[in-house]
Amino acid sequence: MSDSEEIIEVDSSVLGTKDHWDSAYDRELECFKESGDVGEIWFGKSCLKTLCKEVSKLEGIRKEKCRVLDIGCGNGMTLIEMAKLGFKNLEGSDYSEKAIDLAKSIAEEEQFSFIKYFNDDISQSSIEDNYYDIIMDKGTFDAIALSEERDKMKLLYKQLVERTLSTANESLFIITSCNYTDQELKAYFLDDQKRFEFIQNVQYPVFKFGGSKGSSQTTLIFKKLK
Ligand SMILES: C[S@@+](CC[C@H](N)C(=O)[O-])C[C@H]1O[C@@H](n2cnc3c(N)ncnc32)[C@H](O)[C@@H]1O
Repeated sequence: MSDSEEIIEVDSSVLGTKDHWDSAYDRELECFKESGDVGEIWFGKSCLKTLCKEVSKLEGIRKEKCRVLDIGCGNGMTLIEMAKLGFKNLEGSDYSEKAIDLAKSIAEEEQFSFIKYFNDDISQSSIEDNYYDIIMDKGTFDAIALSEERDKMKLLYKQLVERTLSTANESLFIITSCNYTDQELKAYFLDDQKRFEFIQNVQYPVFKFGGSKGSSQTTLIFKKLK
């Protein structure tokens, strides 16, 4: 697909609504309190571990200093994994209060209470400009693209990432998706505004099914251009 070709979108669904996430995290929070189960890890544990390890190995990453935001953090397990790898400046935002409650409970249990979680809706965000060195997303762009106001939400998301990534350092936007292909994500984020440059993919183990090779998600790393 060339950059000018159309992105094929799937129909909107309940996964694009706050009600869905609130009730899902409400259930997961109850479950966590009862059994210690942290709930759904989107794209699986192996993806999570590979993703965070690869991010920690990127050139120029200073784990102690760099400010990381996990946008649409859900249960916060991405940040828990980053904390285990030695990152110290970790924040997670989500529009579901229940997700934030769950993420805080898990962080406390794991003794990573230094991770900061806060409520924030991508469509009316109050996140500070020019602040983060890394913005990570695993499944959030996918979720907002399932909302009824998809085009508006996708644009607000892109503007938020651009606005809140730091210009002082080489800041990174790291997106993991299962709804969009590499080419579709590049076509969307590498637009005429030239705010991002593509750096690399995260490589995941490839599985074989019925003679075809594949991986169920893709991760792209973009650098913010000054
Ligand atoms: C597929 S889940 C991924 C959760 C988490 N990133 C993970 O990897 O487990 C999508 C997340 O995006 C959040 N989300 C969806 N729309 C949002 C919005 N407008 N503002 C903030 N968070 C949103 C949901 O609450 C949910 O936690």
